Amino acid sequence: MNTLPSVETAPNNGDVHGGTTLVIRGGRPLAGRVEVKGAKNLATKAMVASLLGGSASVLRDVPDISDVRVVRSLLEAHGVHVDDVEEGVLRLDPSDAVSAEMDEIDAHAGSSRIPILFCGPLLHLLGHAFIPDLGGCRIGDRPIDFHLDALRAFGAVVEKLPSGIRLSAPQGLHGANISLPYPSVGATEQVLLTAVRAKGTTELRGAAIEPEIMDLIGVLQKMGAIISYEPNRVIFIEGVDELAGYDHRCIFDRNEAASWACAALATDGDIFVGGAKQQEMLTFLNVFRKVGGTFDIAEDGIRFRRGAELKPVMVETDVHPGFMTDWQQPLIVALTQAAGTSIVHETVYENRLGFTEALNQMGADIVIHPQGLDSPDRRVARRALEQAAVINGPTPLHGADVVVPDLRGGYSYVIAALAAKGESHVSNVGIIRRGYEKLFEKLAALGADFDVVE
Ligand code: EPZ
Repeated sequence: MNTLPSVETAPNNGDVHGGTTLVIRGGRPLAGRVEVKGAKNLATKAMVASLLGGSASVLRDVPDISDVRVVRSLLEAHGVHVDDVEEGVLRLDPSDAVSAEMDEIDAHAGSSRIPILFCGPLLHLLGHAFIPDLGGCRIGDRPIDFHLDALRAFGAVVEKLPSGIRLSAPQGLHGANISLPYPSVGATEQVLLTAVRAKGTTELRGAAIEPEIMDLIGVLQKMGAIISYEPNRVIFIEGVDELAGYDHRCIFDRNEAASWACAALATDGDIFVGGAKQQEMLTFLNVFRKVGGTFDIAEDGIRFRRGAELKPVMVETDVHPGFMTDWQQPLIVALTQAAGTSIVHETVYENRLGFTEALNQMGADIVIHPQGLDSPDRRVARRALEQAAVINGPTPLHGADVVVPDLRGGYSYVIAALAAKGESHVSNVGIIRRGYEKLFEKLAALGADFDVVE
């Protein structure tokens, strides 16, 4: 029996430090249908982009997650009117945008990384900005040097303060030639959100090209921006004097879709993920099939099932169109049930495998190689910061008490507990609700047996 508080009333309603605990009784396959809404990693950026418009914007399929709430309160702190048109549809009107007090910005920054993307739009709008120190998942030190170098190249003056950074652009912002040392998603977004209103043209080399980036380019083009996407990760932006508001439906959340697919593998389930699309998940689907999963592409989503016995694989995370780093944590849970030895090379972040300790407490057999590993037929160039996980299976999982460390690791604990025999206590689940809308309702709809303890 599940005791589900409504998300609105839950005391830790999306609070990323929420003390909420899930008591999970595992050993049952998840089966049924869930709907994924707009991508967490696009919706929040499109909300920031509304600051650039001279008129109101409408954003559709916005997920009800705390990362969105954090950005909403930051926008409102700057005088942007954000209204709920209907469920999942926001109207954002920046016509009264003003500077915000530093402590007010600080109060709303939460544990999100998105505030760093306010730099360009606020500099265009107000000529100055204060960005608090960033939060976000502890999966590496998450530097922002690419962001600050790019902002300086546009002509911004960047001052480091104890609690964040203060920026100003006394002469306004001008186009720049920027070459990213690594195809950073955030740094690419920083450049896009700044270049569209800068005087002159900007050439960005080494850009990230994730589907969420391309969707953000779509948002900006709707506003009046001139952005051309050229071969070999080159993006060319011609700055314009003004932009209008947009009306946009967010791309679906590939990370949530992949998470539910891995839940089907781990629990021997059968999950239809409404809203999932093949094109943006091609690489994931290849791995899903190699592990032994079967999927059916429908008009309105994708059905994910475990086919035969799970098989071991070697996976390397990489920038798009490679296997996303956000997909490896739920996949590793499924690989604990594969008959043989799997290897996951985490090449994007230097500390995104720590969550596996708790899986070993549940009976998994995972060894981490902090300096990474050489593997035959590797295709992704080795990076100094990469790590590797070697997963031996199948290992039956048993219940344990675990504490959620980060967004995707936390989700992975939930599916591990659902796959395990016996009862688990998964605490601090507020972090998971940063990125998974209506998590408890979806688990219940899939037949999970759990209680929520506030
Ligand atoms: C975005 O983070 C996503 N977050 C992450 O998703 C995702 O894992 C990541 O992109 C990679 O796809 C959001 O969009 C809010 P990066 P971001 O800049 O932009 C290094 C989730 O689970 N780097 O592409 O912060 C960095 O250390 C989250 O939804 C610098 O060195 O990622 C990392 O090694 C987790 N200097 C690599 O680049 C910089 O200035 C990739 O980071 C910026 C980044």
